Amino acid sequence: MLELQGVAKRYPNGHLALDSLDLALPAGRITVVIGPSGCGKSTLLRLLVGLEAPTAGRILLDGEALHGPSPAIGVVFQEPRLFPWLDVLHNVAFGLSRRLPWRERRELALRACARVGLAAAVEALPKQLSGGMAQRAALARALVARPPVLLLDEPFSALDAVLRAQLQAELLRLWGEDRPTLLLVTHDLDEAVLLADEVVVLGGRPGRIVSRLEIALPRPREPHRPAFQMLRARLLSALPSYNLQAA
Ligand SMILES: Nc1ncnc2c1ncn2[C@@H]1O[C@H](COP(=O)(O)OP(=O)(O)OP(=O)(O)O)[C@@H](O)[C@H]1O
Ligand SMILES: [Mg+2]
Repeated sequence: MLELQGVAKRYPNGHLALDSLDLALPAGRITVVIGPSGCGKSTLLRLLVGLEAPTAGRILLDGEALHGPSPAIGVVFQEPRLFPWLDVLHNVAFGLSRRLPWRERRELALRACARVGLAAAVEALPKQLSGGMAQRAALARALVARPPVLLLDEPFSALDAVLRAQLQAELLRLWGEDRPTLLLVTHDLDEAVLLADEVVVLGGRPGRIVSRLEIALPRPREPHRPAFQMLRARLLSALPSYNLQAA
């Protein structure tokens, strides 16, 4: 279980991005965070990965305070962030501890590439990959160590609609194998209802939780069904209005 208790984040320039955030990510469930641009979603994710430290409150992983990056937490950012000089296999192997012998890392990386449908592209350099393939490679790098917690920041937002739907389905399949605790940030209401066990709506400046919505639909979910559309409509009305003037 990953838990935030009274977490605030003030950046060095004085900007308060998040305030008084209490949130528990239940083990093995999918929590989706949604909210207007600038409300602190990526900040929340960077805090959970240990890339930023909270200025108040604390973050607990299985009851222990989190200080800095943990091998128990895998992450996929909005852009793939691959090393351009490494091929897919070596990029994915980068998600594993250097203490493992290379032969073992290679084996695990090959398996992770196969899990995301990249078996034929392990020798490709990032510049030779399409956007979808690069994002798969980033997903494989996050999954290769089979972390119990997986965090994703708008991982599919740069992809076209068909690819996005494919990768959403693949993510669900991969999640079903190990059942990691999953937190996904998105702007996409359909993605939220499709994937989430619970949607957490962030809003305001500084960002706070403004609403939470359980999604109890059985999987696989069908977007054209009335129950799906009803939840989507509820989510839309829970979103704070996008006030561009205040931004
Ligand atoms: N390093 C930083 N220093 C100062 N302010 C920052 C820093 N990073 C982010 N911010 C500010 O904190 C607020 C939250 O930023 P964050 O990136 O978390 O928003 P977001 O919800 O992820 O937005 P988007 O949906 O556009 O990705 C914004 O107002 C942003 O300008
Ligand atoms: Mg962001």
